[in-house]
Amino acid sequence: MKVAAMSALSLIMMLSGCSESIQPSVSDEGLKDAYKNHFMIGGALNKPQALGYEPGALAVVNKHFNTITAENEMKWESLQPEEGRFTFDVADQMIALAQANDIFVVGHTMLWHQQTPDWVFTDEAGELAPRELVLQRLETHMTTIGKHFGERVQGWDVANEVFNDDGTWRDSKWYQTLGNDYVAETFKLADKVAPHAELYYNDYNLFKPAKRQAVVNMVKDLQSRGIRIDGVGIQGHYGLGYPDLNELEASVKAFAALGVKVMFTELDISVLPFPEEQEQGADVSIDLALQEKLNPYVDGMPEAELKQLNDYYVELFAMFLRHRDAISRVTFWGVNDGQSWRNYWPMQGRTDYPLLFDRDNQPKAAVQQLIDMAKRQ
Ligand code: XIL
Repeated sequence: MKVAAMSALSLIMMLSGCSESIQPSVSDEGLKDAYKNHFMIGGALNKPQALGYEPGALAVVNKHFNTITAENEMKWESLQPEEGRFTFDVADQMIALAQANDIFVVGHTMLWHQQTPDWVFTDEAGELAPRELVLQRLETHMTTIGKHFGERVQGWDVANEVFNDDGTWRDSKWYQTLGNDYVAETFKLADKVAPHAELYYNDYNLFKPAKRQAVVNMVKDLQSRGIRIDGVGIQGHYGLGYPDLNELEASVKAFAALGVKVMFTELDISVLPFPEEQEQGADVSIDLALQEKLNPYVDGMPEAELKQLNDYYVELFAMFLRHRDAISRVTFWGVNDGQSWRNYWPMQGRTDYPLLFDRDNQPKAAVQQLIDMAKRQ
């Protein structure tokens, strides 16, 4: 065999005379490699991570993820905190990091009722602004960010959380000022400002039949009017045994049947008790004061709960793999447990363990299990 035809690895093996010890171990393979023929795997980066300040988290990103989302830094309040003042620094740094590692960037999000400054909906007199003014601000925002990011962002969450759980329109300021055709307007505009990017609708509690149906109807409506929508993002803020996986699978099937891509965009599984007085979901406006009895694992998670978490991840991914033809991406809402918003939502100051990587960026047992499952397909 000619030396030139040998891989670098086999050359090193030959020279070292020690083939066993330098064979790559199974764990050298990341989630993204194991899932490369199925769907992308990713995570949301917070600000310090986006700025490259957390080498441990970046090592997880580079080994396991081929797509990233900014946890907060591409929301309206981050990109245009005051009218006409755009701040792209953190997002740009995150994107540079992605580009250096061939990572698919998801922009989150063009239109949402949260983390959007009040000025967007307010006129000079301090009243709710008229439709034309809000529409003009939406156009300016979307055009500016679309142009700025260009092809560096490959997919956009165009609209986020526009429905209530019962399938009615959310009575947000967008709805109040723009009326019930605003989602269609936003998708039309998105196609104009980000023609190269995939365009998604994103929401939580999409396993609920009424909400699922509302999204199906909306996608069909856009499609029948020739307005481009490429995918539906199922957020995925879950708990141990929540939600009912049959209902969730029904939603994956319903969205796939529309011919759009299906993705899990914000996956995390809280191991903590959900406060009884609240509906589960992902309503970011819930902000409960700490109750110690709902914060049982401050000193570490017991083995039994850890196993339950791993088992639930395995069950969930078994379902994802059954629908790998329809599912294009699974993004975790964070890189490691320490950063996860589940430590401060729906209740402040708790210690949660919802992700696949712990506070030291070490993989939980589920990681290898998920890798093995993907390779058996
Ligand atoms: C969350 C972030 O994780 C938090 O850091 C922030 O304080 C509030 O927003 N649905 C979404 C995400 O679409 O943008 C939210 O992210 C979680 C719920």
